[in-house]
Amino acid sequence: MATSTDSPETTHATDSIESHQKEDRRFPPSPTFAGRARVGSHAEYTAMYKTSIEEPEVFWREETEDLVFRTPWKNFSSWELPKARFFEGATLNVTESCLDRHLGSGTRNKAAIVFEGEPGDVRTLTYFELHREVVKMAAILLDLGVKSGDRVAIYMGMVPEAAVAMLACARIGAVHSVVFGGFSAEALRDRINDCGATLVITQDGAWRRGSILPLKQIADAALAQTPQVKHALVVQRIGKTGDTTAHGKPFSCPMTTGRDVFWEDAAKTPSTASLQLARNPHAFDAEHPLFILYTSGSTGKPKGVLHTTAGYLAGAHVTTKYVFDLQEQDLYFCTADIGWVTGHSYIVYGPLSNGASMLMYEGAPNFPEQDRLWDIVERHGVTILYTAPTAIRSFIRWGDDWPNKHDLSSLRLLGSVGEPINPEAWTWYHRVIGGGRCPIVDTWWQTETGSIMATTLPGACYSKPGSCGLPFFGVDLAVVKDHGEPCAPGEGGKLVIKRPWPSMARTLWNDEARYASAYWTVMPDVYFTGDGARMDQDGYLWVVGRIDDVLNVSGHRIGTAEIESALVSHPSVAEAAAVGRPDDLKGQALVVFVTLKGGHAGSPEMKKAITEHIDKEIGKFARPDAIRFTDALPKTRSGKIMRRLLKEVAAGAKAPQGDTSTLEDLSVLAKLSSDEE
Ligand code: WTA
Repeated sequence: MATSTDSPETTHATDSIESHQKEDRRFPPSPTFAGRARVGSHAEYTAMYKTSIEEPEVFWREETEDLVFRTPWKNFSSWELPKARFFEGATLNVTESCLDRHLGSGTRNKAAIVFEGEPGDVRTLTYFELHREVVKMAAILLDLGVKSGDRVAIYMGMVPEAAVAMLACARIGAVHSVVFGGFSAEALRDRINDCGATLVITQDGAWRRGSILPLKQIADAALAQTPQVKHALVVQRIGKTGDTTAHGKPFSCPMTTGRDVFWEDAAKTPSTASLQLARNPHAFDAEHPLFILYTSGSTGKPKGVLHTTAGYLAGAHVTTKYVFDLQEQDLYFCTADIGWVTGHSYIVYGPLSNGASMLMYEGAPNFPEQDRLWDIVERHGVTILYTAPTAIRSFIRWGDDWPNKHDLSSLRLLGSVGEPINPEAWTWYHRVIGGGRCPIVDTWWQTETGSIMATTLPGACYSKPGSCGLPFFGVDLAVVKDHGEPCAPGEGGKLVIKRPWPSMARTLWNDEARYASAYWTVMPDVYFTGDGARMDQDGYLWVVGRIDDVLNVSGHRIGTAEIESALVSHPSVAEAAAVGRPDDLKGQALVVFVTLKGGHAGSPEMKKAITEHIDKEIGKFARPDAIRFTDALPKTRSGKIMRRLLKEVAAGAKAPQGDTSTLEDLSVLAKLSSDEE
């Protein structure tokens, strides 16, 4: 667990954002960087932004010229919110923009993916090779009976075939739903059943910190309770490296006859008809569903965020091009996992639609030692690095010697995403990793927004450490009070987006009503992000964090209600409340308060049992950082748990300051505050 230190490098984010906002340090791009950048001045950014807002049709017509439309769009957009449509009348196959369009140019033989496995194996796939693999997998999916509109779950680690699988689905119009490899069998089962997937693509196992994560075995446990799944397509990652033991334990990849197929076997025998169709794929309507990605919300049930074809592609494409200032010679490295939206937009669709070369790394950043990423940057000559504040805070803790051992001079641009970056982490990243010369793009966005909504374009705008900057093209951001009145500069409020944008989520899978109520009810026809923020006098955005019941633990969105419903499903747990507490390393740590059913006592064994229960129900990444047993939870007279007070207790307050007038029984609070963890 993280503990606070005296080092100013690790002061918690929100406290320091306020002090640094006052300090107002500015880091302009260097003239050299700006001179070569796609957008090289603030005036140019402002002019482009103005067009994007005042004449969106003109802006998007020009910016989507690189993309392949079979039928051009007639109308840029129309909406009757929360329903919105973009690029109306267009038909396209997303994979033609990501793959086929590059085959007729010099990009054909350029590396699309440079893959480095955790054991050190390196494999490069050119655009030609990636196209070939995607066509083959698309053909196999067709042979296995997948049709346009069918859902396919992808449960994989960071291997090139994960990208191949996503693109193969898109090629035939199937809707992929990637489930992060850290989710448990139960969580995978629920997601497969919610979206009604009929096929699962997985892999035998993935390397993680020197061990094998047995993905297929976990998938098997899920597949025991997903009656509609007809097939599992299994990529051999471990089988290929030839090592079938992990930590002395035999590793196996059991296959169920008739249901499970090894990708390597199937790939040898696609049918001619399917290959023909995979090579010459259909085009789909601009609003054809592309993928579903589950994310946490403020109820126990995860939200299946649905993105569609043309708008999502356009958003991912244009943001990748401008925010990362992609140039022909770049090698771009995003450390996110494909199981999260950053992996979708900024490992797969954005970079590939731009013909970029990207580095994909399979394993942990501290394996075999804490300099793995810096070793990768040096050996491969990475030029752009995109990572998360929580990772940066770990690097700081591990010490400057690790990056200092390496030549990081190939880097020219750094990015950050997932949570507010505390200015100390920003300055360290700038100085130690960026050598003081690389601009940092702090990118604010969400699973629902599909692509980056706010940042500072690296050649055009100065950055202020801790602020994610200015709105991206076409994005109309505002910070408002409870009923929609605009906040004054510097005043805290709710972050909203005032008009629809191409890559916005279209709905929640099977839950139109929740889509409308979760995002569109704070103000009429305005999208509510769930984040609290302030905008300063220069129009720079300072995101404070979630103001709904969603936590951000190490950049992972975790719904407190999801944790609570997992906790109360444990046979000994009567009631539970989950809250966040500020944490130097993780941003927020997860603290749970638990009351046990009669006869059960709080004990170290019980803590262990509860932890294992969360591992099983959700996944290890959602493990509580602290479990506190209590005889009762503070409640209002109407019976609602007072999470606000629990938050204060979790943060260490001896006597919570908030309003306790509605508290049912004050002695509960006194007892809680005095309990040791
Ligand atoms: C938070 C990840 C501050 C925010 C792309 C948002 C950030 C949630 C930033 C979305 C940032 C993401 N600065 N906060 N640069 N980036 N967030 O859906 O609270 O996993 O609402 O998407 O992360 O998380 P999600």
